[in-house]
Amino acid sequence: MAISWSEAMKVGIELVDEDHRMLFSIVAEFEAIVKQDDSAAGAQALGQTLAKLQDYVRDHFEREEQIQLEAKYDGYEENKRQHQELTRTLESFIARQRDGSLGEAVAIARMRDFLAIWLTEHILRTDRRMRGRILPWAG
Ligand SMILES: [Fe+2]
Repeated sequence: MAISWSEAMKVGIELVDEDHRMLFSIVAEFEAIVKQDDSAAGAQALGQTLAKLQDYVRDHFEREEQIQLEAKYDGYEENKRQHQELTRTLESFIARQRDGSLGEAVAIARMRDFLAIWLTEHILRTDRRMRGRILPWAG
């Protein structure tokens, strides 16, 4: 599956759409490293990219949840629940990557698939519901 943002994912809130594009670009970076380099340097680069992803995900979730709270958006709770779930999954993956127990390429490839699928599904099924409902004129 392609790791990229597409027009179909547009929420219509520029700040959120911009964040989503950035998240895809970090996941694509993750994939590029996995493909290129399976040495120790590659593992280090992978760790850095994951840390960057974790930071960006945290900031993005905060921004998105804040926008929803301010708009008294009724999908807030469900969206927040999904965000917490991903945050936990990402944390445990990063912990395993750091202590080296992740090891094999298969586990890393699975993580790449998980991230790409999660991001796509979450945006298409959950975030997209914001379209036209938070900024009625947008989308
Ligand atoms: Fe979201």
